[in-house]
Amino acid sequence: MANLIAFVTIISLAFTTAKAQSNVTRGSSLQPTSANPSWLSPSRLYAFGFYPQTGGYAVGIYIAGIPERTVVWTASRNTLPFSNNATLRFTTGGRLTVDQSQGQQINLFDTGGASFASMQDSGNFVLYDSTGRTVLWQSFDHPTETLLAGQRLLPGQALFSSVSETDHSIGVFMLSMQTDGNLVLYPNRGTDDRAYWATNTPSAGPNVTLNLDSSGFLYLLQNSTNFIYNLTQGGYPTKDALYLMKFDVDGIFRLYYHNLSNIGTNGSVIWASSSNKCAGKGLCGINAYCSLLNNAARCQCLPGFEFVNPGLLSLGCRRNDTIESCKIPDADTAIHMTNLNNARWEETTYAIPIAPTQEECSSACLNDCNCEAALFTGQECRLQRLPLRYIVVIDNESNVGLIKVYTSSVRNGSNPTNHFIHVKKVRQKKIMIIGVSLISLGVLVLLISGVIMYRTKVWAYKKISENLNVQLFEEMGPQAFSFAVLEKITDGFREEVGRGTFGIVYKGITEGSMRPVAVKKLKEELAQEGEREFQTEMKVIGRTHHRNLTKLLGYCCEGPERLLIFEYMTQGSLADVLYGPKESKPKPCWTERIRMAVDIAHGILYLHEECENPIIHCDIKPQNILMDEYGCAKISDFGLAKLLEHDQTNTSTLIRGTRGYVAPEWHKRLPITVKVDVYSFGIVLFNILCCRRNVDNSLPDNEAILEEWVYECYEADELLKLVDYDEDVEKSKLEQMVKIGLWCIQEEPTLRPSMKRVVLMLEGTVKIPVPPNPNSFLSVV
Ligand SMILES: *[C@@H]1O[C@H](CO)[C@@H](O)[C@H](O)[C@H]1NC(C)=O
Ligand SMILES: *[C@@H]1O[C@H](CO)[C@@H](O)[C@H](O)[C@H]1NC(C)=O
Ligand SMILES: *[C@@H]1O[C@H](CO)[C@@H](O)[C@H](O)[C@H]1NC(C)=O
Ligand SMILES: *[C@@H]1O[C@H](CO)[C@@H](O)[C@H](O)[C@H]1NC(C)=O
Ligand SMILES: *[C@@H]1O[C@H](CO)[C@@H](O)[C@H](O)[C@H]1NC(C)=O
Ligand SMILES: *[C@@H]1O[C@H](CO)[C@@H](O)[C@H](O)[C@H]1NC(C)=O
Ligand SMILES: *[C@@H]1O[C@H](CO)[C@@H](O)[C@H](O)[C@H]1NC(C)=O
Ligand SMILES: *[C@@H]1O[C@H](CO)[C@@H](O)[C@H](O)[C@H]1NC(C)=O
Ligand SMILES: *[C@@H]1O[C@H](CO)[C@@H](O)[C@H](O)[C@H]1NC(C)=O
Ligand SMILES: *[C@@H]1O[C@H](CO)[C@@H](O)[C@H](O)[C@H]1NC(C)=O
Repeated sequence: MANLIAFVTIISLAFTTAKAQSNVTRGSSLQPTSANPSWLSPSRLYAFGFYPQTGGYAVGIYIAGIPERTVVWTASRNTLPFSNNATLRFTTGGRLTVDQSQGQQINLFDTGGASFASMQDSGNFVLYDSTGRTVLWQSFDHPTETLLAGQRLLPGQALFSSVSETDHSIGVFMLSMQTDGNLVLYPNRGTDDRAYWATNTPSAGPNVTLNLDSSGFLYLLQNSTNFIYNLTQGGYPTKDALYLMKFDVDGIFRLYYHNLSNIGTNGSVIWASSSNKCAGKGLCGINAYCSLLNNAARCQCLPGFEFVNPGLLSLGCRRNDTIESCKIPDADTAIHMTNLNNARWEETTYAIPIAPTQEECSSACLNDCNCEAALFTGQECRLQRLPLRYIVVIDNESNVGLIKVYTSSVRNGSNPTNHFIHVKKVRQKKIMIIGVSLISLGVLVLLISGVIMYRTKVWAYKKISENLNVQLFEEMGPQAFSFAVLEKITDGFREEVGRGTFGIVYKGITEGSMRPVAVKKLKEELAQEGEREFQTEMKVIGRTHHRNLTKLLGYCCEGPERLLIFEYMTQGSLADVLYGPKESKPKPCWTERIRMAVDIAHGILYLHEECENPIIHCDIKPQNILMDEYGCAKISDFGLAKLLEHDQTNTSTLIRGTRGYVAPEWHKRLPITVKVDVYSFGIVLFNILCCRRNVDNSLPDNEAILEEWVYECYEADELLKLVDYDEDVEKSKLEQMVKIGLWCIQEEPTLRPSMKRVVLMLEGTVKIPVPPNPNSFLSVV
């Protein structure tokens, strides 16, 4: 108690101006730029409210009583930063919401009906019911990246590192308190075999928690009674001391100590999960290597590579030129191998030719156009494909990395792959001729359209960018582009990369920054939409911001032309990933597939409940889910159904969507609700679990229709028939997933769970009841 009084005095000396507000009542609100952007705890040590973060403001809990404003909890980590016009409200209905200037409202959490809220001195933010005794929600139950004294990480929960110290959205690492009793560190997008640290207590069973007490004791506790693993010994001074466990941006979790009687000093690290700053797998992203310089981690690109985004190293590196893979050297490019000594990475070996010396290993790679790098171990030469992951350069490693580097230079006569050059030159010439004529055509089109636009004074009211360049990649929302520009960057709509319900997708390369983009040319029926409505709709789509939605970069609305520009997804669609030929690419493993399902569910949840105007997608299917290079699933084509049907809640006569994925209410002319997406998600979940299409006529009759086969296996308790025999699948997990899918595809829309509930079920936080036969209603009709 004396301690508390001591630091209350000190803290209040420092904050005499701000007013502490222990109980937050309904109707209270906060604004980021006002004098009091937060609600303080009674001692003024902790604050709940707005804090600045890259690109705007976030809402969360931070330690206000120390100069290093340490964030300990963040709300809605994946939403776009709030603008300085945002208002945080504890509404009269007892919800916590953030209102944006455009009328957009975000619910910070699902709990409503709270009577009052309280920012407590423990750092816990609590919502109470009217009695003041029942806790409806508390931040201690939903840790983000930090544990405070008295807080626990429960079985099945995980902490996620932040993107950076100034951006608390979800970064690249995960600290998981597993239900097998093991505490494990993973790269967030990685699979189980990529864990880089663990307590190795996997036999401790399903009831193990990670705990921190007020003396800095960090430990694993089983059944709330048995100390099974002590990370720190604890017993540190408790007088005026604040301990917190933070899962840092670099993927290492550390115990910090703050001396509250001397707030001029920064916190100090008293324990860390690793002393090697390069330990976090994926810290430097793909094709980049981590090395230590003065005991700090340093990320550098492989020779011949450059950072995708120098401000976000975890995105990794790509070749510094636009050479396509499998490039054969020609008049303008030369290749050679560059050494990266003392290197180690996650191998992507596809061949081990006989090459006992480093020189022979180099030339083996040079002469194989599939080879991008090689690892020479002294005995073996292991040829590698890109991307290379988790590269570290450490002194005691004896392997030599050999990296293929393309240089633009005048060809040197002694090139080892001379014999290709002649063939290539001819091809080069043809391309040049085509290129030149295209460019002249482009110039002509530009000139003509320039004249026309000048004449019609298009410029006076339209801000159309003629330069699809860097602006695209800044956070400015989608921009309008002229048709001529899009024609140019797609090389006259030459390379078709996909065909969807709404149109054809072409690959384009932006000028200047040379980034690949996907340009979607919408079908004409969408063009009947007026220009103004189209632009309004694009703005709505453009404002959606979620890691599981593809990002709209720009659009074109010119005469009858309607085009959209999206970020380019390197791995194709979920359909390619799930059903592509096995030889070209291994199927994603079980844990990767589960993660994809969770990703997709999060994306749909955002569309339904978290974005400005709820969006019903109407066409969720594997072809509309795209995979980025990190295996993160992103939903595409959302919002377009709305262009066809202005009022989405209306009863619709025309079926939108794809056979096999459309919910029964489309056929019955019942009102279309968000539940149609839940239905489609259920089917996609089955596609993901079983890695197969909805209908496969090559299979026996009872197996041909996926959802029927799944239900049959479920009833017969033979679920393992659904997955490959050699796959290592936990039967109980599979059963959970199947049950969720069966709930989603219930014939009766009201029986289907909301997307929020689906996410909770997928994450294992709510119990999944036994689902009825999905068609039980059908048989009555
Ligand atoms: C904030 O509101 C003002 C006045 O309503 C407006 O001019 C400004 O553009 C808004 N800023 C943002 C970032 O929305
Ligand atoms: C907060 O409200 C509850 C319930 O009305 C009350 O019991 C408690 O004393 C209040 N606390 C403070 C510090 O005002
Ligand atoms: C976990 O431990 C708590 C506290 O001892 C106990 O109430 C609970 O039943 C246990 N759960 C399991 C699954 O063992
Ligand atoms: C923990 O609790 C579970 C269920 O209550 C029990 O089966 C298990 O034996 C307990 N473990 C220990 C070590 O007490
Ligand atoms: C862990 O800490 C607890 C509590 O201080 C102690 O009883 C236990 O012996 C410790 N275990 C080990 C392995 O040090
Ligand atoms: C905390 O700071 C005070 C004041 O500078 C100092 O006297 C005290 O020794 C410090 N405590 C610890 C544990 O370092
Ligand atoms: C405390 O940390 C901040 C930023 O992290 C730094 O600028 C400052 O120099 C540090 N102060 C001390 C006394 O180390
Ligand atoms: C790429 O990097 C290599 C090696 O660092 C360099 O020789 C080459 O000129 C670079 N190419 C381009 C297009 O910048
Ligand atoms: C290099 O050193 C690290 C830490 O000292 C050790 O974990 C690792 O096994 C060593 N690697 C080799 C190849 O000896
Ligand atoms: C060509 O390569 C040889 C050896 O590889 C080198 O000696 C010579 O200087 C190079 N010539 C040019 C023009 O780069």
